[in-house]
Amino acid sequence: MSKKILLSGIKPTGRPHIGNYFGAMKQWLEFQTVGQYDCHFMIADYHALNFIQNSDEMRRNSLELIIDYLAIGIDPKRSVLFKQSDVSAHTELAWIFDTITTMPYLMRAHAFKDAEAKDKEISAGTFNYPILMAADILLYNTDTVPVGQDQKQHIEYARDTAQKFNNTFGETFKLPEALIIKEVAIIPGTDGQKMSKSHGNTIPLFSSRDEIVKAVMSIVTDSSGDIPMNVYNIHKLFRSETEMKTLYDNNKGKYKILKEALIEDLDLFIKPLRERREEIAKDTDTIKKILDDGANKARSIADKKLSEIKTAIGVI
Ligand code: ADP
Ligand code: TRP
Repeated sequence: MSKKILLSGIKPTGRPHIGNYFGAMKQWLEFQTVGQYDCHFMIADYHALNFIQNSDEMRRNSLELIIDYLAIGIDPKRSVLFKQSDVSAHTELAWIFDTITTMPYLMRAHAFKDAEAKDKEISAGTFNYPILMAADILLYNTDTVPVGQDQKQHIEYARDTAQKFNNTFGETFKLPEALIIKEVAIIPGTDGQKMSKSHGNTIPLFSSRDEIVKAVMSIVTDSSGDIPMNVYNIHKLFRSETEMKTLYDNNKGKYKILKEALIEDLDLFIKPLRERREEIAKDTDTIKKILDDGANKARSIADKKLSEIKTAIGVI
């Protein structure tokens, strides 16, 4: 029986944080290890172009994110690791999808509605963001897309787009499913809101010890209860329920001690990742080769699918 197909990606818009890790990347590693899936992990640089419009920054961020993927344990021997812009079929398919997508449908996207509500001028790239993402997913016959809660609507767009294409041109695409784990769907940041690069409330995944201390000390606490919930909700990612109960029962109202315990747990978790990352970053030739190999593998899958699509629409 052929394996199921898994694909996910992150935009190279800044340093990944523990929200990205627990919400999405950790699941990637589990699927890679289980071996029942053909896994594809992408650097979504063309999506990032909506946010990063500086060549040095784009180049640096993309390289950094590849190193991050490798440092958490994405293994290029077992998974296809590639950059979106290396596979031109993604943008080509996005165009094809644009022609069967209506404006009112795209206007229902959360990102579009948020920008509108804030009276922001929105680029055509941002408006079409869900369509490029649908292309990313559907080109690989993806079954499963492991992501955090904020991406749920995008996977729905991919499913709808697949269905619309199938209805118009004949059965061509599988309908992908989001894989969102309830307990880690929205990891809170240091202010208790969703952790996000754009909110400035992150604990970076490869923080130095000093950065960990700074981030934890900045966690917003109010003195109204025994348990500082913003600390607790991050801390529970690193300890079992029983351990958490003992620690927090024994230290009621002692916010400083609890924050110090969180610092130690975070450092214990992050230190080996940080060290591994430093090692990997030294060998840029190997990183480049990994990206070249990944691009070749991804291209061969995507180009084959694109030919099938082009036949279905009648351009070949
Ligand atoms: P950010 O909001 O920080 O820019 P991204 O949009 O790059 O994060 O998200 C990359 C992946 O990490 C996506 O799958 C997203 O759903 C997931 N993710 C991001 N923030 C969180 C969070 N706070 N909790 C759970 N998952 C998250
Ligand atoms: N939109 C995703 C994010 O902001 C990144 C992304 C682009 C993605 N293409 C994808 C995720 C395909 C999963 C599958 O995090």
